[in-house]
Amino acid sequence: MKDLIDIQDLSTDDINKLIEVANDIIAHPADYRERCRYKRLATLFYEPSTRTRLSFESAMWDLGGTVIGFSEQGSSSVAKGESVADTARTVSCFADIIAMRHPKEGAPLVAAEAVDIPVINAGDGGHHHPTQTLTDLLTISREKGRLDRMVVGCCGDLKFGRTVHSLISALSRYPNIEFVLISPPELRIPEPVRVEILEKNNIPYREVSTIEEAVADLDILYMTRVQRERFFNEADYVRLKDTYILTPAKLANAKPDLSILHPLPRVNEISTAIDKDPRAAYFRQVKNGKFIRMALIMKLLEA
Ligand code: NCD
Repeated sequence: MKDLIDIQDLSTDDINKLIEVANDIIAHPADYRERCRYKRLATLFYEPSTRTRLSFESAMWDLGGTVIGFSEQGSSSVAKGESVADTARTVSCFADIIAMRHPKEGAPLVAAEAVDIPVINAGDGGHHHPTQTLTDLLTISREKGRLDRMVVGCCGDLKFGRTVHSLISALSRYPNIEFVLISPPELRIPEPVRVEILEKNNIPYREVSTIEEAVADLDILYMTRVQRERFFNEADYVRLKDTYILTPAKLANAKPDLSILHPLPRVNEISTAIDKDPRAAYFRQVKNGKFIRMALIMKLLEA
């Protein structure tokens, strides 16, 4: 495997091994400080990002490597009309590995096909976000001690939210996973995810429209933001944006060992009053993102 474009590029064994390495990095960070010495990561971000880009860059620095890149299309030759393939070819003259985020589905795959160095998809449109999923899986395994036997609630914008698509695709491989998909009717999970992943693999799932009717059953509650930038009109966004606001009252019937995840950024969908609840795992999740990306960079660079 040269690139990571879709979480399906990794076998379950690969995923479990990455989690194991990430846990070892957390326990013994000093052992990894030189692993990517003289290697360079390029971060090509055609869409806004805080956590993903900075965690990739921190991951490479903590492995002893260096980082180049851009975080705005306007500051590179993209603004002059350069194609993704040509930009990737150029960058591959200076870097050993690329992490790319792009608003168009498939752009990181185009880059991967144009170059010989590994390309990591750091989010492509409403499609996939495999490194967020690796972060989510590391977080779930650290919080719960397992990745199987769970009822997982995914709440919010299940239509455009790429993190949910990749997460369902990954978790569906583990035994006894059940999903509760919580969304307004307009933002339901897309047909390909429902049919190709859930139905084809006989994964039990139900679709509901409120958190309250599902919360008591959940082991994981994965909240997401309504993806404003992927809406066709602002009026629909405004109407749907505050459909779900998780408050302490809505957790009244939740399990004491529920884990609440969110890929972040949060807009209004989790009240800040939840942050103090020990079940709120979303800032621990951010931290985990760096360690699993370190494990992934080492794997792809065979370092
Ligand atoms: C997510 C993304 O970019 O898809 N953010 C992230 O990478 N942590 C989620 C989002 O933007 O809502």
